[in-house]
Amino acid sequence: MADSFFSEEKISEIRERASILEVVSDYVGLKKTGRNYKGLCPFHSEKTPSFMVNEEKQIFHCFGCGEGGDVFAFLMKAGHFSFPEAAEELAKRYGIKLLRKESSPVQKKEMAKREVLFRINQLASDYFHDLLTQKREGEAGRKYLSQRNVREQVIKEHQLGYSPERWDGLVQRLREKKVPLELAWELGLILPKKKVGDSTLQEGRGLDSTNWYDAFRRRIIFPIFDLHQRVVGFGGRLIGEGQPKYINSSESSLYHKGEVLYGLPAARRYASERNGVIIVEGYFDLLTLHQYGWMHSVATLGTALTAHHIRTLKRYTKNLITVFDPDPAGIQATLRTLPLFLEEEVTGRAVLLPKGEDPDTFLKKGNLEDFEKRLAGAIPLIDFFFEWLMKAHDAKSIDGKVNIAKEGMAMIRRIPDKIRKDFYVRTLAERLEIKESILYETIQSSPRERIPSAEGFKKRPAEESFSKSEELVLRLMVHHPELIPTISEERILEEFESPLLKRLGQELEGLFQKKGKLDLAEMLGRVEEGLKERLCGYAVQESGVEEHQRERILKDCIEKIRRRKLKKDESDLLRRIKEAERQKEGRGLEGLLMEHQELAKREKGLLKGGLPKG
Ligand code: UTP
Ligand code: MN
Repeated sequence: MADSFFSEEKISEIRERASILEVVSDYVGLKKTGRNYKGLCPFHSEKTPSFMVNEEKQIFHCFGCGEGGDVFAFLMKAGHFSFPEAAEELAKRYGIKLLRKESSPVQKKEMAKREVLFRINQLASDYFHDLLTQKREGEAGRKYLSQRNVREQVIKEHQLGYSPERWDGLVQRLREKKVPLELAWELGLILPKKKVGDSTLQEGRGLDSTNWYDAFRRRIIFPIFDLHQRVVGFGGRLIGEGQPKYINSSESSLYHKGEVLYGLPAARRYASERNGVIIVEGYFDLLTLHQYGWMHSVATLGTALTAHHIRTLKRYTKNLITVFDPDPAGIQATLRTLPLFLEEEVTGRAVLLPKGEDPDTFLKKGNLEDFEKRLAGAIPLIDFFFEWLMKAHDAKSIDGKVNIAKEGMAMIRRIPDKIRKDFYVRTLAERLEIKESILYETIQSSPRERIPSAEGFKKRPAEESFSKSEELVLRLMVHHPELIPTISEERILEEFESPLLKRLGQELEGLFQKKGKLDLAEMLGRVEEGLKERLCGYAVQESGVEEHQRERILKDCIEKIRRRKLKKDESDLLRRIKEAERQKEGRGLEGLLMEHQELAKREKGLLKGGLPKG
């Protein structure tokens, strides 16, 4: 993998200079525990952290789902990078010059396409920003933003832009830059004047001769950044009245609206300091929150909050606060997110603003303290839901109570945690003034639907059981490679019971003999999948063995492994002797008996203590 684009040495250099801790921290909130850093795994859904990063060894490993590897593997998995992209991203971040080797046309094509897509977005973003901040044509945009009290600093930080009223401003710019226009179309930046499938295209004249026009016109432009400062898409707010008020980039390989969160790069940096993240619905709401210092905010873009969004955010904080309009549509939208929060096991909380306000209008009127108070008093969504239920039905009438109980329990049953569930059943029972047991019956009588929980989708297969001693030898090798020569000398790996552990040990031994040291991160790139997981697992667990004890512990392990092996050889032999006796094979038997005596001698030597050699 490594050698197709870049030299081995370059890859090693990147691996050495990069900090896996920094890179992972872009995605996961990490806390130090012992030698490792711990957090919620970004690759599967979990409530207690089993994702570890070991800085010293430059690797990550999740004990929950088994994912693991070096900094390259992490970026590829978490950031959807190809290997060369990951290498370039890291090289850029850590100031390493990268010269790309000649690559095959196929690689070039795949690589080139994503790269070009990002480049087009960047070109477009620069074009819009330049218009807004530098050009006479941008006056309308500047005026609009100043009317809405958006500060210069916010414009700069968010690289806001302006798309003029013209139909071909961006098209021309992209033409000048010799950009393949159909890729800009794929990104939703420009549109063909004739629809695809139209006769002009079918006649084989191709897209080149198509006339294109700008998709964003007379709009304030919001570039949307990923965690690597790459522009994945755009939003555009019409200046003045009209429809549609906002347009967003179309779905593309770079932009998935159910996943992207506007403001995430800043929010993830402030989430732990501010102990939470505020979730709003609009671009301007987010800008205004930033303007007044609530940097731990994100906005969903033209879509309701998704489970994916929640999963992303809960890696940084468990305290998620949604702020929404108090109109019926807003309330419905909020209630729809409740099941997602329940299933992701995060307590979403809700803030209500006065009627007709959104965070943008509310804060711009100067209600800063009031807003802070509302944040502090945010109510758990499930309580909010109960409130709403009590209002939606007549809680005094029997029919009303029945409905509230049914709808309430339909929601409560989605709570995975028993204690939490019990708590809410009690709350609901109190509100309805009925017995809890009756509410429980409503769950039991209806068939229990399976909630597809994300946690279940990648359950570990039952752990294989390995010999403790063999595992300990491997842990010692990983953490104290200076013991490897002793291990080689004793040839203990050959006596391992588990073929998997034996192979892993031999790989480590081989690498150590070749390089005189153990570079785990490098090794992880080479070993087969099954071994990789084990290796990561050993590496992130501390060996916990004091220096002065290592040798002795190793010897104990060797002795145990050897004794077990002898026992096994002996019982094999006895079986064969019996077999031979039954078949009256005189000569064969004699040999076997001699072998047995030999074995007994070896065993005696072993038990007297001291390590028998070879
Ligand atoms: P709103 O209609 O509440 O607008 O849409 P807003 O954010 O308050 O915008 P201003 O203050 O009038 O400028 C909330 C969000 O829904 C998405 C946008 O992301 C918007 O910010 N939206 C709205 C669309 O995607 N398309 C639309 O036509 C309208
Ligand atoms: Mn608004």
